[in-house]
Amino acid sequence: MKNLAVIYHSAHGNTQRIAHLVTEGAASVPGVRVQLLRAEDLVEHPEQLLAFDGFVFGSPTYLGGVSGTFKSFMDATGRLWKTHALKGKLASGFTVSALPSGDKQSTLISMFVFAMQHGMYWVGNAILPEQHRGVPVEEAANRLGSWSGLMAQAGHSAPGGRGFAPGDLKTARLFGENIAKALVCVSCASEVAAA
Ligand SMILES: Cc1cc2nc3c(=O)[nH]c(=O)nc-3n(C[C@H](O)[C@H](O)[C@H](O)COP(=O)(O)O)c2cc1C
Repeated sequence: MKNLAVIYHSAHGNTQRIAHLVTEGAASVPGVRVQLLRAEDLVEHPEQLLAFDGFVFGSPTYLGGVSGTFKSFMDATGRLWKTHALKGKLASGFTVSALPSGDKQSTLISMFVFAMQHGMYWVGNAILPEQHRGVPVEEAANRLGSWSGLMAQAGHSAPGGRGFAPGDLKTARLFGENIAKALVCVSCASEVAAA
């Protein structure tokens, strides 16, 4: 059994909704046990991360980067970095923002660099945008065209996760499922890296 943690921060419920869907998708894959964790609950004891084989990181985009709460979680892992204790684990990430772009890319890049500094394996979002094969754009998986990680757009006026296009909800489930499948595949590679 492989253990996957979905670690997120959400102030107004949008990122939380996506985190739940990612978890649901990942939990549908046999051989993977998934836990949903709040970034703020890991700051005191980041060594809890050692129990997992892989992570999905999730943060709202704040001013083109991760939220302060999510950054505090990242910084709390500094002492694990010193011994490369997380080396060889799988990592991936998602972000939610109000605008179609909203500079979400730089949020994913900071998660990617964080994972690379820890020696993790980054998995992207290998889903072709479904609008290219005739699915209405609002319902299309990966309608925002993000491959480095998952992006979702919450809109301005609907906190609590009620403002998403159906396509973003579908992408989140598929993304979780794909990460869990990748975790099953990459497990032998991480055993080599850890040796
Ligand atoms: C301080 C702050 C900065 C934000 N910066 C951005 C931004 O750079 N781009 C964007 O599209 N939305 C931005 N937003 C909107 C949030 O990303 C959006 O409301 C998101 O859904 C919040 O996630 P949550 O509901 O999980 O807290 C910002 C919101 C706040 C409070």
